[in-house]
Amino acid sequence: MEDIKEILNEVSKQYDLISYALPHIEEETAIFLNNIIKAKKAKYVLEIGTCLGYSTIVLAHSVKENDGKVVSIEINEDLFWRAKRNIERAGLKEHVDLICADALEVIPFLKYNYDVIFQDGQKGMYVKMLDALLDKLNCSGVIIADDTLLDLTNPYKSIRKAIRDYNSLVFSRDDLMSTLLPIGDGLTLSVKKIVECENE
Ligand SMILES: C[S@@+](CC[C@H](N)C(=O)[O-])C[C@H]1O[C@@H](n2cnc3c(N)ncnc32)[C@H](O)[C@@H]1O
Repeated sequence: MEDIKEILNEVSKQYDLISYALPHIEEETAIFLNNIIKAKKAKYVLEIGTCLGYSTIVLAHSVKENDGKVVSIEINEDLFWRAKRNIERAGLKEHVDLICADALEVIPFLKYNYDVIFQDGQKGMYVKMLDALLDKLNCSGVIIADDTLLDLTNPYKSIRKAIRDYNSLVFSRDDLMSTLLPIGDGLTLSVKKIVECENE
């Protein structure tokens, strides 16, 4: 990812300047996402929560090698336009479809099925969105949820509960194989079981 380091550093600074921009993914999360996309030869990646586009640039740079596409959804219109500019400046606009909407409302209408889904939207929506996201996930595709080790340390009780609920749900479901990785603020990676795909 050497060739996008400069633009990522620039975009990263914007997160500090804009008070309503929530933090972007950590560098080790970026490396992990890049590795997963390469290992799976992922062509279509869905992201929930674009913010200013830091993670979208990471994902798009990775799918570019597979001639693929990232669809990324951001609910906040101002962040959406800023992210659009950042992605253009990174030279990656051909590999990104940005959507300004509430992801919960638009997921069922998205085109493509996805090899990798990166969930980094509002933590309280992780559980609510799971079924709709799984409907859009390819056989043996993976859904990776960010910040899932913040269930003990986040200052907000509602966020701690939302993360605990999400982790409990994905670990209890028979159609998923899940694991919790100590990368960044925690990543919960869930694979759609092959047997479920054979029944589709
Ligand atoms: C933690 S930030 C995402 C950071 C980004 N993935 C990155 O690493 O650069 C979460 C983002 O999700 C957006 N968001 C929250 N709820 C959403 C929803 N229902 N649909 C789409 N985006 C949402 C927020 O506006 C916010 O910008």
